[in-house]
Amino acid sequence: MSKPRIFLCARIPESAEAYLGGRSRLDIYKGKDNIRRAELIRVVRNAEGLIPTVTEPVTGEIMDAAPDLRVIANYGVGYNNIDVDAATERGLPVTNTPGVLTDTTADLAFALILAAGRRIAEGDRFVRSGKWKGWQPTQMLGQDIHGKTLGILGMGQIGRAVTRRAHGFGMKILYNDPRRLPAGEERKLGARYSSFASLLKRSDIVTIHTLLTAETRHLIGTAELRMMKPTAILVNAARGPIVDERALTVALRAGRIQAAGLDVFEEEPFVDSALRKLENVVLLPHLGSASLETRTAMGMLAAKNCLAALSGKKPPNLVNPEVWKNRRKAAKT
Ligand code: DGY
Repeated sequence: MSKPRIFLCARIPESAEAYLGGRSRLDIYKGKDNIRRAELIRVVRNAEGLIPTVTEPVTGEIMDAAPDLRVIANYGVGYNNIDVDAATERGLPVTNTPGVLTDTTADLAFALILAAGRRIAEGDRFVRSGKWKGWQPTQMLGQDIHGKTLGILGMGQIGRAVTRRAHGFGMKILYNDPRRLPAGEERKLGARYSSFASLLKRSDIVTIHTLLTAETRHLIGTAELRMMKPTAILVNAARGPIVDERALTVALRAGRIQAAGLDVFEEEPFVDSALRKLENVVLLPHLGSASLETRTAMGMLAAKNCLAALSGKKPPNLVNPEVWKNRRKAAKT
């Protein structure tokens, strides 16, 4: 049996590329910048399996450009880059990479909490600038993180991993999620359910761990920022459009909240200069899952999802299971 043709939209760690390469006819986009839409339409033509990343919007147009396409195996847990409805309409399974990046992303969210609260990036810039003239009791005072109230928006796997870390800092945890956890689970986790508004009002730090959906787009805007404490810190390591970036810039500039830590942006890689000029925001280039171990594990999982679907097996991390059900129904009739 000939090996399936897979198109991988970006370089991934070596061992995952080698795994895929040994089991498929693999074509990898090796450009320095992210692949552009027109180029993707051209190269996807021969693919049976497509492995995109967060930076490639996979629209119906892309799917239609690939007549042999049988699976879209996203390299990432968030799959807002893929038009899942369009894929489902075309009978194409879509998969993602949950689980393997949970702890790594939670580590990064915590790093942002600490960096924003204790002015770590700003302090680094200060030392490098050569302007530091010596220790002073009132120099660059941030705020304590230990013992504070942490508000978690979205209590999925990453939200829970952040909760576990926060207990090490003696924090009180509030959370909001469309699906409240059973009481026993809340107790075990040590997190208290709160309404959205009350979480914003009571938290010292608000950290976002929801998926980007129509409901969560601009979940945090002017009105929500006004509800937060003037000393509050906002952290977003989920998806940029969940926060209205302009409203956040205004709030940070006016000191309406104290600081923010952002790993994601509304129009990546564009980050408005007004935001870049502010000292009270820590800006990272979407590094949530960026450890060698995790990016390798994501590659292996995307590869396994892709290869499973191409060999006719149900892939482990299917996000549109109805496609598989319909396929089985069709096979029976
Ligand atoms: C994810 O997996 O969602 C990361 O943000 C990378 O896309």
